[in-house]
Amino acid sequence: MSAWASRPPQRLPAWQALREAAQRQASALPRLDARRVVRFSHRLGPLLVACARQRVDEPTLGLLLELAAESGLADAIRDLFAGQAVNTTEDRAALHMALRATAPRPNASLTAPGKGGAAAASHAAWQARQRLLDMAEDVRAGRWQGCGGKPIGAVLHIGIGGSHLGPALAVDALGGDGPEIRFLANVDGAAAEAALAGLDPETTLAIVVSKSFATEETLANAATVRSWFIERTCDPDVVARQFVAVTANAKAAAAFGVPPAHCLPLWDWVGGRFSLWSAAGLPIAIALGRAGFEALLAGAREVDAHFQSAPLADNVPLLLALLQVWHTNFLGASSHAVLPYDRRLRLLPDYLQQLEMESNGKSTRTDGTRCEVDTAPVVWGGEETNGQHAYHQLLHQGTRVVSADFLACATPAHALAAHHDALLGNCFAQSQALWEGHRTADPHRLTPGGRPSTTILIDELTPRALGALLALYEHKAFCAGALWQINPFDQFGVEVGKRLAGPIVRALRGDDDGRADALTSHLVGEVRRLRG
Ligand code: F6P
Repeated sequence: MSAWASRPPQRLPAWQALREAAQRQASALPRLDARRVVRFSHRLGPLLVACARQRVDEPTLGLLLELAAESGLADAIRDLFAGQAVNTTEDRAALHMALRATAPRPNASLTAPGKGGAAAASHAAWQARQRLLDMAEDVRAGRWQGCGGKPIGAVLHIGIGGSHLGPALAVDALGGDGPEIRFLANVDGAAAEAALAGLDPETTLAIVVSKSFATEETLANAATVRSWFIERTCDPDVVARQFVAVTANAKAAAAFGVPPAHCLPLWDWVGGRFSLWSAAGLPIAIALGRAGFEALLAGAREVDAHFQSAPLADNVPLLLALLQVWHTNFLGASSHAVLPYDRRLRLLPDYLQQLEMESNGKSTRTDGTRCEVDTAPVVWGGEETNGQHAYHQLLHQGTRVVSADFLACATPAHALAAHHDALLGNCFAQSQALWEGHRTADPHRLTPGGRPSTTILIDELTPRALGALLALYEHKAFCAGALWQINPFDQFGVEVGKRLAGPIVRALRGDDDGRADALTSHLVGEVRRLRG
């Protein structure tokens, strides 16, 4: 299996028809009445996904669904869940859904057709989940002891990219009642110093999350933190007792000093950016406890069930992916803004940047030929309403169309009701203003309107709701990749820079092996000169 469509996207009949539809719709906006609101709103568990302010009329929606059918999306979804090697370039399954599956039936077959085997994956994931939940409960209950039998009082999570963004978002968004949890991702020494400042090495638990256990930044940070523990406690057992590793490379974790009992598995069928549901989410489980973590998984599982079984016309992740294709390839949208009107979701734009841009920022189709259509937009955004006083000007009057997702929660986590009304009022007003625009004879004040957005209204930001939201975006990214006919599960582009960094770091230390180009050599020389 390599592709679900017989022809490149731009040669599919629906793609051609969508080009004409885009021209036809250029000037006329669909009328936004109550009927349209109902027609273009979707309830997905705790999420209301409101798409009425999209420049899509009924015929266009029909064509987008034809595109999904011609692109073989039903087969793509089936293959994903069956554990087929949908990660074609690495010949692997992508079974992050197995991480949140319910407990396997006793005697369930551990083999399934296809690479990886969905049932075997669910079984392995379930066993690992029990271990991580036990560990989390031990920390929360004070049973996990540091130096001198003192209970663990703080957790330091070390990891980067997919081994950081999801857990950091979930912990930041959901809080919880566990010990203090800090995250260390960047190799910048200032980040390490800040992460360690004020921590007590006798009562801190370090969790090193790295699927490969080979990522330079994570290994550098882990080594620095290990030295910090050893130097400050003078206890030779401190690493074995107070370090946990989450990795697919148990050998490297053991060589680092983490004993097997503290090493939790990852597998080749879990991509880093899809891994927060695995043991990589240990800090989430420590923050929320067993029930909270299970609720996060349950929310995602509900969306999995919807994604797997809903007809294409009602399939919400697919509809969001079709809108992304519509914006990117037909409306000329240059980028996509993620605008959370809730402080608890302030890390969502960072998380979605990796999920969407690392997944679909590609230009080669799964069959190895060049992708002739644009793929992932630039994804960006920030905490609102702050952005209204910064970049919203461009959203309203800039020369390029930017599509947007507005996110808001009906209920706040604080008692300042008036603030929450102001927050929601601004959220709804911005998307309305982007859509309606402002007609005036004064060209400076004129705003064109017709700027597309989706509003996702979350009932209440519970673990279940966050799980549902993130799974929605995961499946959207998968569908968009399938529509563009690219593999969303590899990330070879990031490797080039990684490979070059090692020799350049050595050059900075005076050991030049000649891999730097003229400018890099010049910059390295300047740094060495300035340092004396
Ligand atoms: O940035 C590239 C990348 O490979 C991501 O895909 C991944 O999430 C991150 O590095 C961290 O990788 P690892 O978990 O292997 O340390």
